[in-house]
Amino acid sequence: MSRILITSALPYINGIKHLGNLAGSMLPADVYARFQRGRGREVLYICATDEHGTPAELAAAAAGQDVMTYCQEQHVLQHDIGRAFGLSWDWFGRSSSPQNHKLTQHFADVLEDRGLIEERLDKMIYSIDDKRFLPDRYVEGTCPICNYEKARGDQCDNCGSLLDPIDLKNPYSVISGSRNLEVRETRHLYLLQTRMAERIRAWVDGHADWPHLARSIAYKHLDEGLIDRGITRDLAWGVPVTRNGLPRPGFEDKVFYVWFDAPVEYIAATREWADAQPDRDWERWWRTDKGASDVRYVEFMGKDNVAFHTVSFPATLLGSEEPWKTVDMLKAFNWLNWYGGKFSTSQKRGVFMDAALDILPADYWRWYLTSNAPEGSDTAFTWEQFASAINRDLADVLGNFVNRILKFCESRFDGVVPEGGEPGELERKLYDEVGARLAELTTQMETIELRKSAQALRALWVLGNEYLQEAAPWTAIKTDRDRAAVIVRTGLNLVALFARISAPFIPFTAEKIAEAVGDAYPAAWPELEGEAALSILAPGQPVRAPEVLFKKIEETQIAEWGERFGGAE
Ligand code: MF3
Ligand code: ZN
Repeated sequence: MSRILITSALPYINGIKHLGNLAGSMLPADVYARFQRGRGREVLYICATDEHGTPAELAAAAAGQDVMTYCQEQHVLQHDIGRAFGLSWDWFGRSSSPQNHKLTQHFADVLEDRGLIEERLDKMIYSIDDKRFLPDRYVEGTCPICNYEKARGDQCDNCGSLLDPIDLKNPYSVISGSRNLEVRETRHLYLLQTRMAERIRAWVDGHADWPHLARSIAYKHLDEGLIDRGITRDLAWGVPVTRNGLPRPGFEDKVFYVWFDAPVEYIAATREWADAQPDRDWERWWRTDKGASDVRYVEFMGKDNVAFHTVSFPATLLGSEEPWKTVDMLKAFNWLNWYGGKFSTSQKRGVFMDAALDILPADYWRWYLTSNAPEGSDTAFTWEQFASAINRDLADVLGNFVNRILKFCESRFDGVVPEGGEPGELERKLYDEVGARLAELTTQMETIELRKSAQALRALWVLGNEYLQEAAPWTAIKTDRDRAAVIVRTGLNLVALFARISAPFIPFTAEKIAEAVGDAYPAAWPELEGEAALSILAPGQPVRAPEVLFKKIEETQIAEWGERFGGAE
């Protein structure tokens, strides 16, 4: 497979995301995209803001803005902060785009043509004072299960139960606080997932290579039995409900449900990408009749999104009976928690993407979040663990190595990759070890094992330090200049190699390191054979020591940040 399509779950538009969101979808997708580009594969990494639904409307209202302006502004903010983190999206779209409106309406049409959508009469809460229906989060009240008094219409945050707004006790309108509510009947569209249960199960069965987390969630939902799902809502902001291009009678004040249109945006964002430049073709990525059967499609997401991507979105794609590309590999993540508890926007607990870059460069965060990715289980962020990952791995191991060898080359070999001498026993041992570790790293990267990849990468950095310690060019130079030349040349090639293999994780630093030794950036992933991997730089190539690559994190900073960002719950 030489073409790889990558998507990460679309971040909600309602504000800058926290590090947990970054760690569980966008960042791992970026690491994988950079790696595959380095391997010479044609990669398309697509993301977008998820702009519809009650969270968007409520956040806009809280900000005192109309929802369109709010989304416009927040999209730019999320785009810019993502870029500042080095997220190498080929396109960062908007689910409110005309392309997504059109495609979402298209799917609704074909699904209805196939008998998979029908109108049903529903009972919904209507607010007499607000003169509107109150879907999902527009109504709050007492949870019928645990009696928590601020349960949302769609879910209780206290006991986690999924709710129907009409089941809430003592409901009130989130808009006005009014309790002057009644249950009224209104029509909605339903996607008949019950009719597709067998097809979806067969499709999941066909993906035995998905990681356990993704498969177990998919089967849990299939085993519990799929339900027909309401795919319209009484909202003004969203994709209007049409039938064959015309407003659907009785649905003038309704839009499609956010979870119906959001995944469609993966495809629509690719159309946005294609529409932005004449030589781009979206169909060869998404239509199996137009070349997409050669594409490997990899999705990244947090575990709360898995059901939507293993059941609902496939129901849309498969149900259409059109030749759409479906996901090949689904990489799901557990939660990154904040100490024992959850990140919380409202309670200002945890670090958000903008504040993170306020205090430290992106690569510090990228390294911590990937080497401690919440892969096997939920993971807790602590400043102590963060500081140790930075100080130990980045400053002591990588930064120190690069600095030592380059300084030595500057002072003893005029800052030029030295010629002369022949590799000896130590070098041959190094070639073997580097070759074996590189193969290990490459395998882990191909299988998207983030923690294991980071470990393998760190092991290569350590190897560099061990080699330098053992070869001791500072001793050799006193008696055997040719021997010292071999060691320095080998050390500089290790530096170049590190730039190449570290680039998916810490791209900003990798670029500085590549620059320091005059290697191209972004460069190709190295040859897997040790000697070849360490033959990047030509003798005579000028090099120079970079500024300090990583500053160690001090106790006083930890104390200050603990104060600023809040500690345990
Ligand atoms: N916005 C959703 C979330 O943050 C994810 C949407 S993924 C999509 O949980 F594919 F449906 F867009
Ligand atoms: Zn409850």
